[in-house]
Amino acid sequence: RGDPRLKAITEAIRVVPHFPKRGIMFQDITTLLLDHKAFKGTVDIFVDRYRDMGISVVAGVEARGFMFGPSIALAIGAKFVPLRKPKKLPGEVISEDYELEYGTDCLEMHLGAVQPGERVLVIDDLVATGGTLSAAIRLLERVGAVVVECACVIGLPELKGQSGLNGTPLYVLVEPR
Ligand code: PRP
Repeated sequence: RGDPRLKAITEAIRVVPHFPKRGIMFQDITTLLLDHKAFKGTVDIFVDRYRDMGISVVAGVEARGFMFGPSIALAIGAKFVPLRKPKKLPGEVISEDYELEYGTDCLEMHLGAVQPGERVLVIDDLVATGGTLSAAIRLLERVGAVVVECACVIGLPELKGQSGLNGTPLYVLVEPR
């Protein structure tokens, strides 16, 4: 964790207090995307970690997993599969609901996008409760895929390892400020 790129990544993420509502410290990765060196460092760390792990699918969680996933997929020679919010995908889908603070949300994946036995990396910008990533894992496991790891730019250190995601490892780069 002495990687000097991590400090640049932390500093490039803008923290916006009370957005989208009071009490939330919003972790804004759009400023990371504006900083070429920090953005490239982020993608490179993931690419170095996942390039030789036999991963054939990078699955990105809407919306901010779409901002990191395709670059990683291209660099490691994998396909990119979007996991989308409801009613966005035109083909036949499977769906998984998950709990939010108030109410529920849902992720969908196209059937046929991932084959049984494929090794998958799930990517998102941030993990908080882990509910979103858990729904992503369930989608992929329902079609017989193997989720090798979930990766996020930002996450609480307590969430690392096995906890919260039912045995699937979680890798995070930096902590929220
Ligand atoms: C945020 C974030 C993750 C999720 C993490 O997305 O980008 O996908 O919340 O929270 P959790 O670990 O508690 O499940 P959001 O639901 O705001 O959707 P959006 O990216 O489409 O705005």
